Amino acid sequence: MRGCLAARSMLEALKRELKMIAYPFPSNFVWGAATASYQIEGGVHADGRGESVWDRFAHTPGKVANGDTGDVAADHYHRYQEDVALMRELGLDAYRFSIAWPRILPQGDGPVNEAGLAFYDRLVDAVLDAGITPFVTLYHWDLPQALQDRQGGWYGRDIIEQFVNYADIVSRRLGDRVKHWTTFNEPRVSIHLGYVLGEHAPGLTDWAVGLQAAHHMLVAHGLAVPVLRANVRNAEVGIVYALNPIEAVGDDPDVLARQRVMDAQINRWFTEPVLLGQYPDEILAMPEAAGLRVAAGDMQVIQTDLDFIGVNYYSRTLIKPESVPAPQADYTAMGWEIYPQGLYNTLVRLHEAYRPRAIYITENGAAFDDVVSPDGMVHDPRRVAYLRDHFHMAWRAIQAGIPLRGYFVWSLLDNFEWARGYSKRFGLVHIDYGTGDRRLKDSARFYQSVIAANGLPE
Ligand code: FCB
Repeated sequence: MRGCLAARSMLEALKRELKMIAYPFPSNFVWGAATASYQIEGGVHADGRGESVWDRFAHTPGKVANGDTGDVAADHYHRYQEDVALMRELGLDAYRFSIAWPRILPQGDGPVNEAGLAFYDRLVDAVLDAGITPFVTLYHWDLPQALQDRQGGWYGRDIIEQFVNYADIVSRRLGDRVKHWTTFNEPRVSIHLGYVLGEHAPGLTDWAVGLQAAHHMLVAHGLAVPVLRANVRNAEVGIVYALNPIEAVGDDPDVLARQRVMDAQINRWFTEPVLLGQYPDEILAMPEAAGLRVAAGDMQVIQTDLDFIGVNYYSRTLIKPESVPAPQADYTAMGWEIYPQGLYNTLVRLHEAYRPRAIYITENGAAFDDVVSPDGMVHDPRRVAYLRDHFHMAWRAIQAGIPLRGYFVWSLLDNFEWARGYSKRFGLVHIDYGTGDRRLKDSARFYQSVIAANGLPE
């Protein structure tokens, strides 16, 4: 058996050489996959977990496709060992996951739930035992419902202290083993969809409330960073943004004006306060911003030095006059245009505008209508092509001198895709939601070969 394995790995090495890796990555490049607590864990009543805004929202009729909820999801809470074994099989260098605040503090503040901390202890140990580096996100949208009820969630200023307390508790517990921390996942998306458009929990539709909630999120970020650094020796601390190039077709002045405002709302609302210490003019000019309460010193707190910026990239948005037809393009099952060049453009823009010390692509991937074939496999050639084309853009960015350190595919597992429920599958690993069975898709095998070769073939 031993000899057989050795022969196989020699053969693989030879094959790699013969194929000639056309696009090699730096030797310390980090290949990973990402998930988020509410999307995969299930176990919503296990071991004293409190209710989150997503439990409440998903259980409200009409909010999530097919009435889906995260009650069971991929049941990762009970099957995490199996999932870590899959990560090891893929050869991942790193695993990005989030902590469910309501497992740690079921009421948002107050008594700490030891069993919740113990779960993440076990997970971190399993990940490290597999030789994989954990990247922890503190907030990936599952706010304790108790804080929503008490003060309107992020709308009340008390949330700042509550978040910092939560960050302190988690980092004290895991900081001896977890060195990579991000405060917030896509703060803009969580406020925009949750407080302004009403499509995500808590389902509010008020710009003025959203702007205030966003401000508190930013201050909470700024105050949590030094706490993480104090609790974690050699910490690497960052924040994760969803960046989406807003591109105009033609030069119609109305279109260009819309492009500017939309770019401010989508891409600069949360980056400029953190990286430049100020809100974009387009945000402050909104009539709903007239009542925004910013306390003395807030902007200095928000502009804290970070070790890295995480970029989640999926697609671009095109703005055009109605009369102009949309350009020919391919779309994923989410209806998002497949546009790899946008990843390169996004990385260049981030680097040129703000010069962050390091950048990780913390999410990139695609949903397609995957099915298990009669041969028992999941053949997902479009996801393979999507990943290959986006990896290639990452390679180009590195050649251009951008300090891109790693790449996390979204997602390790099929999971609860927020308002779209289980209808959209983003996983490298297919989940049978009836049995919980895991099955590597072709894209997982492809990713495994990219990681093993640390590069892309022609
Ligand atoms: C991002 C989210 C992630 C996932 C992907 C598809 O906006 O961070 O949880 O839903 O989109």
